Amino acid sequence: MSGGNTGIFRRKPVDHIQHEHERSELKRALGPVNLLLLGIGCIIGTGIFVLTGRAAAQFSGPAIMISFVITGVLCAFVALCYAELASALPVSGSAYSYTYASMGELTAWIMGLLLLLEYGLAAATVAVGWSGYFNSLIGDIGIHLPAILTAAPGVEVKDATGAVIATGVVNLPALVVIWLVTGLLVLGVSESATVNNIIVFIKLAVVIAFIGIGAGYVDTALWSPLVPPQSPPPPEGTSMDIASQIWRALVAVVTGDNSSRYGLTGVIHGAAVIFFAYLGFEAVSTAGAEARNPAKDMPFGIIGSLIVCTILYILTSGVLVGIVPYTMLDNPAPIAMAVDHIGLPWFSVLVKIGALAGLSSVMLVLLYGQTRIFYTVARDGLVPTSLSVVHPKFKTPYINIIITGIAASIAAGFLSLNALSDLTNVGSLAAFGLVCITVIYLRVSHPELKRPFRTPLYPVVPIAGALMCLLLLLSLMATPDTRNFFLIYLAFGIVVYFLYSMKNSKLAKGVVVDPEAPPMGR
Ligand code: ALA
Repeated sequence: MSGGNTGIFRRKPVDHIQHEHERSELKRALGPVNLLLLGIGCIIGTGIFVLTGRAAAQFSGPAIMISFVITGVLCAFVALCYAELASALPVSGSAYSYTYASMGELTAWIMGLLLLLEYGLAAATVAVGWSGYFNSLIGDIGIHLPAILTAAPGVEVKDATGAVIATGVVNLPALVVIWLVTGLLVLGVSESATVNNIIVFIKLAVVIAFIGIGAGYVDTALWSPLVPPQSPPPPEGTSMDIASQIWRALVAVVTGDNSSRYGLTGVIHGAAVIFFAYLGFEAVSTAGAEARNPAKDMPFGIIGSLIVCTILYILTSGVLVGIVPYTMLDNPAPIAMAVDHIGLPWFSVLVKIGALAGLSSVMLVLLYGQTRIFYTVARDGLVPTSLSVVHPKFKTPYINIIITGIAASIAAGFLSLNALSDLTNVGSLAAFGLVCITVIYLRVSHPELKRPFRTPLYPVVPIAGALMCLLLLLSLMATPDTRNFFLIYLAFGIVVYFLYSMKNSKLAKGVVVDPEAPPMGR
């Protein structure tokens, strides 16, 4: 792929990227199983442990299982696209680098902005989920933080009976846990794939035990009707054939009409809510430069982790709505609540501890991914190179980690779960859609590029993936606050590009790789 383009369309030539890959100071230590566990470690988190309850109670009912299938299909399309790019361009920095090599610098910069929303805010979202399980666990041993310190400003705090007892001022546990994770990252704890693997095993054990033990308590009567009738019911005379129902559901999604629950419309809304649960499979692609055999192992890690989690999600949600009537599931810790429901207090405590460990690993991988993207962007000169400065002792990009940590902790402490997950989903869906388009762009512009993994059923898969992303993106943008924040954020980012990044870009100055860059450990 030739470089040589100028201005906002200048592209980073692939041979430069591969040269950087060869010269990268990052150790290539990650094998297929490590990459698979990295993916699973990032995927299973607040989505399944918290948002599933809300989606089932408010939108999907027992058909939450179907919602998980729908979103799983969308993510499979995107994962196949990611896998093709990750095998063809095995570089650190993920989708940012893919767009830099194909669509040019400005698009890459926009991708960087989207990934910042995806990773940074997702970490904050997970911290809020962590806080819910933490408060529940310490509550079991009789410790209760002042209610105003357990939720973001304006968020109502309820007691066990559902009565409002306070309005939040700051979500202190969420804020503090981000600081702890930031500290670990500065010390280079993410170096230890072993620690990550142990935590992932604990999390998997909790989820599998919940499925295994819970299955014995499932009352299949609670699965019926699988799709509860729409509420409020559609106006009389409305066609109820399946094609009309799907059409109405799509229109409701795009127009942001959240008023109706259940019915097919509800099932699709539920799918949009639990989209967050799937985020993370693409985090594997941020470790491209550290993979031993990226061409084979990256597709394995990305697609494998998605398949494992999709199966676990469908089973977990099926057991959940088979144990507790779905109307009762809108709870900050619904999985623990289900275990309480079947009267196994010891297991409930284990679930909470497992969830806390699991959510911690998600935060670690998300913030780690964010700092690696920043590191790559800084080495390209698009943000100040101090963000790629590596600590002499810990060998981590500490300035970058600390700035990321401050921003994520403020978001975690002061924004609601719904606002955070909406903004995360917006950034991620836009980034995912751009990845699908990048696959098409590269196939057309550079058919000769070596692609050890090729997306099957091209161009159906990337086109379907991009359209599904667009659909869900539009549904989220229908909320004025989300739309305004997103558009102002993007506009601000683009101004920064023209004022700073365009002039300081290493590519613009003809520098391929920063020879002065100090070595960084993993
Ligand atoms: N998928 C991750 C979670 O649910 C981000 O927490």
